[in-house]
Amino acid sequence: CGIIGFTGQSQAKNVLLEGLESLEYRGYDSAGMAYFNDNVIHTIKTTGKVSSLRKKVEAAPKFHSTCGIGHTRWATHGGVSHINSHPHTFGKVTLIHNGIIENYHELETMLAAEGKHPVSQTDTEIAAMLIDHLYQGNPMEALKKTMEFLEGAYAFCILLEDRPGVIYCLRNGSPLVACHCEEGSIIASDMVALIKYSKEYFVLPEQHIATLTKDQITVFDINDKVVTPKMLYMNWDISSAMKGGYPNYMLKEIHEQPEALRSTIIPRVREGNLPDLSKDGIPHNILDNVNRIIITACGTAMHAGLIGRVMFERLLRIPVTVEIASEFRYQNPIMDKNTLVITISQSGETADTLAALRLAKAGNAKTLSIVNVKGSSIARESDYVLYTHAGPEIAVASTKAYTCQLSCLYLLAFAFALEKGRLSEEDCSKEMENLLQIIPAIEKTLTFHSLAEDISRNLKDCEDLFFIGRGLDYALSCEGSIKLKEISYIHSEAYAAGELKHGTLSLVTEGTPVIALATQANVYSKMISNIREVRARGAMVILITNGSDLIDSSICDYHFALPYLAGDFAPFTAAIVLQMLAYYTSVGRGLDVDQPRNLAKSVTVE
Ligand code: G6P
Repeated sequence: CGIIGFTGQSQAKNVLLEGLESLEYRGYDSAGMAYFNDNVIHTIKTTGKVSSLRKKVEAAPKFHSTCGIGHTRWATHGGVSHINSHPHTFGKVTLIHNGIIENYHELETMLAAEGKHPVSQTDTEIAAMLIDHLYQGNPMEALKKTMEFLEGAYAFCILLEDRPGVIYCLRNGSPLVACHCEEGSIIASDMVALIKYSKEYFVLPEQHIATLTKDQITVFDINDKVVTPKMLYMNWDISSAMKGGYPNYMLKEIHEQPEALRSTIIPRVREGNLPDLSKDGIPHNILDNVNRIIITACGTAMHAGLIGRVMFERLLRIPVTVEIASEFRYQNPIMDKNTLVITISQSGETADTLAALRLAKAGNAKTLSIVNVKGSSIARESDYVLYTHAGPEIAVASTKAYTCQLSCLYLLAFAFALEKGRLSEEDCSKEMENLLQIIPAIEKTLTFHSLAEDISRNLKDCEDLFFIGRGLDYALSCEGSIKLKEISYIHSEAYAAGELKHGTLSLVTEGTPVIALATQANVYSKMISNIREVRARGAMVILITNGSDLIDSSICDYHFALPYLAGDFAPFTAAIVLQMLAYYTSVGRGLDVDQPRNLAKSVTVE
């Protein structure tokens, strides 16, 4: 969910609506806001997107307020309905929430004994009831007690009926960032909502309370002591969080990849074309005594990890496993001080990945994270951070963050291999030169958009399709498949090409689209044999190769001949093709590319 609070000199309406529009990628099942008007709290909410809320707010008579809170929901607890939309009010308390209250049932029973009953099916309303129950005129006392009662993850913005102009905020687990600017005080789930107002902001620390008035923000720890939060500086500018002439964010972000990769790679290249992670604070001997690497993440970030594993194992000969964070955290994983755990996350706030990181720390592993959002929880809690400089990624389907994550994994693999003596300086420098070549190659690949658009016309009405590949290409197939599924709603599967004949080939019939990745020289001829197998069953083959060599053009219906890249770098260019295929298929089906149904970009609940 996305939450925002504003109290200041100017009208709250626009700050809240624009803030919610920028946070909408966090959830778009319903939206709502509450505000003080003549010292009375009013609430407007609706199912559907922020645009529906905007219409309602604009139609509201005499909206005059300088203090309010707003919410855009990704439903977890309780279905998508008006009653379950935030804000929730009980007694004197009106609030919005991001997170999940785990002991809501216990609390509900406790409050029922007092004759208090919720009207919605949400855990959030129980929290409003609890605060109201504990509030006897001293907000800080009530909020501190509330934190003792609540279990789970939460970020709250709260209005109290008898405290007009003040917003109270609590944080445990779910992110909140805040800034004070000319207009007043603002707090939100993500700094994209603040960019317009200030470059300086702070992250509300865990288990802290903030009070916002028009003049200032005060932060208290659990013992009521005022603390001065550490100010952070954001180097993203407002235009980077806008569509900039593109019809949607996803297309813009696909096209931003050359620039994002330049910003991510170039500062990490030192003289002699060697990798340099010293400015990131990553010690050159981090792999000393490390005998095992675990990469853990969710969704697309996990798929980047699959490619990382292949590169690490090839270059370092250290065993690497890739674990889905939500599985890892409950599997009593084997690790110790000789394990390096790498977490990957665009947002740096994904609850499962954060929990996996905490588990790794508890297990004495060294921790390193690859994160896009500066100051995010995963970045702050890891021993070491390698930031992707992708800039804000707003479309739910990750594109530029993914390729930047790949580039960080390659940089790590080369830096580690150099340090371990597994690559000579000369070979390492060649690898780095090749890595830099991906940037012009991606620029060229982006010009293949018309071919992708043409092919998508043949994909948009199919019911399911396959992605096949081997090695790095198989790892990339997993990403190609999720990208297509999440935004086009067409079922697809990624298959290790050699495994097809062990069952799945029975699903390939006349006309089944198969996207075949054959970018690696060492398995090229094996891939061609696998392609012949699907071709013989009538598949429509879309072939992607590194360079234009093709022994027999009759094996495919369409061919993307990527600009040739020496070494293991074709996943970068092939990823662009897969993103474009998914994108144009979704557009062709008339879907909302940036905000696919049921999903959210930043999932801060388990
Ligand atoms: C959500 C998004 C995915 C994303 C995953 C991990 O499920 O819909 O696109 O890959 O979270 O997000 P992170 O911010 O940790 O990279």
